[in-house]
Amino acid sequence: MSELHVVDHPLVTHKLSMMRRRQTGSKEFRELLEEISMLMGYELTRDLPLEMEEIETPLARTQAGVLSGRQPAIVPILRAGLGMTQGLLRLLPAAKVGHIGLYRDPVTHSPVEYYCKLPPDIGERRVILADPMLATGGSAADALDLLKRRGCRQIRLMCLVAAPEGVRRVRQAHPDVDIYTAALDQGLDDRAYIVPGLGDAGDRIFGTL
Ligand code: PRP
Ligand code: URA
Repeated sequence: MSELHVVDHPLVTHKLSMMRRRQTGSKEFRELLEEISMLMGYELTRDLPLEMEEIETPLARTQAGVLSGRQPAIVPILRAGLGMTQGLLRLLPAAKVGHIGLYRDPVTHSPVEYYCKLPPDIGERRVILADPMLATGGSAADALDLLKRRGCRQIRLMCLVAAPEGVRRVRQAHPDVDIYTAALDQGLDDRAYIVPGLGDAGDRIFGTL
């Protein structure tokens, strides 16, 4: 069964609380999301494989650990996942980036796919699927289906705020995918928004409220 990791480091929790505030504007919201993505990325990449390489320090030759193999692919779900990409790229500058465009139908709340562009060798890379909001879980579950159809086998889902409903759905459909979130909130309202949540993440990032 997949694991749910709640990354509740005080710095992450504090920055998330600032993001939740209604008064926080887009510029600050984006900056905080980028910072949290870096901090969470540190946890998410904890078990990346290393190999030993001989290097020369100013004093001696030594064996030193360096990242081994292909770097992960980062796949943001458009639009809001874009807000997490830069923070992750600062940790993994050689990562490849794919994009999956999904929006939720406002009536059914089901995801509708409108874009997909992935690195050709994505099936041979670890994948970090990034989307700040895990509400019903429909978008994440569909994106995970799509990635698996493209051969991905080692996928982690990185979000910011999750609802129990979304966690249940993803774990049921994709028991092999670990979920990382900064907070597990109470639940969903009648429009399938996370409560207390932070509102519409895409609108807050891009100022389209
Ligand atoms: C939001 C969010 C997720 C999705 C979560 O995107 O970024 O992708 O909703 O909801 P779910 O778990 O119920 O599927 P939205 O559809 O609002 O699109 P946007 O990012 O373009 O605003
Ligand atoms: N999408 C968002 O951006 N926010 C929510 O609370 C739910 C879905």
